[in-house]
Amino acid sequence: MKKILSVAAAALLFSSVVSAQPYIITQSDKDRAAEIVSKMTLDEKIELISGKDDGFHTYAIERLGIPSVRMADGPQGVRNKTHSTYYPCGIGLAASFSRDAAKGVGDGIGFDASARGVRIMLCPGVNIYRSPLCGRNFEYYGEDPCLASEIALGYIQGIQQHRVMATIKHFAVNNQEYSRHWTGSVVDERTLNEIYFPTFRKAVEKGDVAAVMTSYNTVNGVHAAESDWLINKNLRAWGFEGIVMSDWKSTYTTLGVLTGGLDLEMPKNFTTKPEMVKPLIENGVVPEANLDIMCRHILQAFIAYGLLDQPAKDESIPEDYEYSRNMAYNAAIEAPVLLANNGLLPLKKGNIVVLGPNANTVAFGGGSGRMDPIPGRNITPLAGLQALGKKYKVQFIENAEFSAEDRKAIEKADAVIAVVGFNNDTEKENHDRTYALPEGQNELIAAAAALNARTVVIINSGGEVDITPFKDNVAAIIMAWYGGQEGGKALADIISGKVSPSGKLPFTFWGSEDKNPAAKYYHALTPEVHVVSSGRDPFPHAVYSEGIFVGYRGVEKFGVKPMFPFGYGLSYSSFEYSNASVTPTADGCEVVFTVKNTGAVDALEAAQVYVAPVKPSVMRPAFELKGFDKKLIAKGKSVEFRIPLSFSDFSYYDVASHDWKVDGGDYKILIGASSADIRQTLDFTVR
Ligand code: BGC
Repeated sequence: MKKILSVAAAALLFSSVVSAQPYIITQSDKDRAAEIVSKMTLDEKIELISGKDDGFHTYAIERLGIPSVRMADGPQGVRNKTHSTYYPCGIGLAASFSRDAAKGVGDGIGFDASARGVRIMLCPGVNIYRSPLCGRNFEYYGEDPCLASEIALGYIQGIQQHRVMATIKHFAVNNQEYSRHWTGSVVDERTLNEIYFPTFRKAVEKGDVAAVMTSYNTVNGVHAAESDWLINKNLRAWGFEGIVMSDWKSTYTTLGVLTGGLDLEMPKNFTTKPEMVKPLIENGVVPEANLDIMCRHILQAFIAYGLLDQPAKDESIPEDYEYSRNMAYNAAIEAPVLLANNGLLPLKKGNIVVLGPNANTVAFGGGSGRMDPIPGRNITPLAGLQALGKKYKVQFIENAEFSAEDRKAIEKADAVIAVVGFNNDTEKENHDRTYALPEGQNELIAAAAALNARTVVIINSGGEVDITPFKDNVAAIIMAWYGGQEGGKALADIISGKVSPSGKLPFTFWGSEDKNPAAKYYHALTPEVHVVSSGRDPFPHAVYSEGIFVGYRGVEKFGVKPMFPFGYGLSYSSFEYSNASVTPTADGCEVVFTVKNTGAVDALEAAQVYVAPVKPSVMRPAFELKGFDKKLIAKGKSVEFRIPLSFSDFSYYDVASHDWKVDGGDYKILIGASSADIRQTLDFTVR
């Protein structure tokens, strides 16, 4: 626990050197952008609305003082032609249930980007976890829009306070990687507004996010990058004034790009070449004013972020920055979820045998989220355990086929740590993954567990995996996600009990592929829909028939009990919840309760507040997460949690009025350690 405190104190010190105020687009930025646009030639406007050939820059227009702006992926660190700090992945940040950890990662990335002259970060990714199979869940923030929004807000604020734009992606309903270019998402309006839009909307309304990236899929029949409904009728209507860019190669028609609300075609001008744009302008099909608006959006964001006035690169920041490493550790220590523990953990001393394909490597999810860490900075799980010191003897068994000596070592060990899971080949962008662990891993775990029941399984993945083959035969299971360069050290600190685990599941762990409410619709693509402009006809559609009952929202609705509920995670300590009260406020209410650490070690606890309508006027989930907080509680001590709820936290999306509505009447407020472990219940009436 000491480590957390000292790093947190360091964070406070450092964060005072950067402004806490995000950069925002002001009227004077807009006026200046309009002034510049009035001086631009048609050719210059056409240049500005697409990326340059290298795929990660915009065009410079030197005559007008507009620089070429460098961008980079995201979200696990600064990517593209650079080595940089590797942070825990998105699902790990969500599992931390910690706004501070997310903000810390954004903060570190903001420093890393500034040090490299990168002023647009292509992150965070916030698509909702609908199925464990989606190959990019590891980049995203889980199944719940309240949790995802709060984590995204922290992350965005962390980045943007450094004068680096964040780009929230992929707008919208890009919840599978299978056939991602050739799939239409068909989703009803209420579900879009209650499940798939809120994280984007909060990032606009509360986070002043500077840029939004559209998705590959069509949304209700129209390509996201060309959708007036999505971009103008929704995103812009929420007050978004920054840059809307396409995902890489997701534009199809010049007319759609020039009229649908997009500002920047990426990575280059597939549909906005001068010879494509000019005839539409010259023949009056598209007013030149549309180009002006696109250029103004781009320039007003650039101006707000000082890109026309200040150098892109901050030479004072080291590329390999100790502060960034600390932020990576802070998130890595709060991310792992202890799923099961028969009491073997924490392991205070002893002989440890380490094995498994991910033990002597730092695992990544693959695709644009895969980055190049700084050489020598990656701490593998094996290295983390080896660094624990004299109380431990650590032996690594590399070969999956155990020799006679290996078998003896495993049998004698005080614990066997099997590090398994996916990597950048088996869980990645543009592909969906298997529900089962990759080939041979269940067998490896079974072989180890047969020799020694004191086997701990550590899993790298972006979501649920099939643990049924070994769950009952091992001593403990830790969901470790992709922990970043400090992940191995964090795991060792948790295994040894230096720090109590405090991550909680940001999705429902069903324990079977079929129980998930989306399972039967997820790959049920309907091929009969035609989207001729896509160049693929017919164009299959994924119909989101589970509607708003995604993840835990489907537990009561479909009467299916998960293996581990949303919000669940074990600690080395125990907590008692008491003294709950709710007090009305001008904007809703404040929920106050006490949590006592009744165990033997200091530990962090993520407490959750759910709202349950008693007699809803429309069909609604039985309860929904509307607030949470995480606090460090010393053993034997009590801490007060104060969670504000606004009236909007009691609302649902009313399709008749196309707006949010709050029913007057009675609600229960459920306070719990997980969605299925409710410790205090309050009554609240909305009048
Ligand atoms: C991904 C985006 C990414 C872009 C640039 C695309 O394939 O979907 O998330 O930012 O590539 O690498």
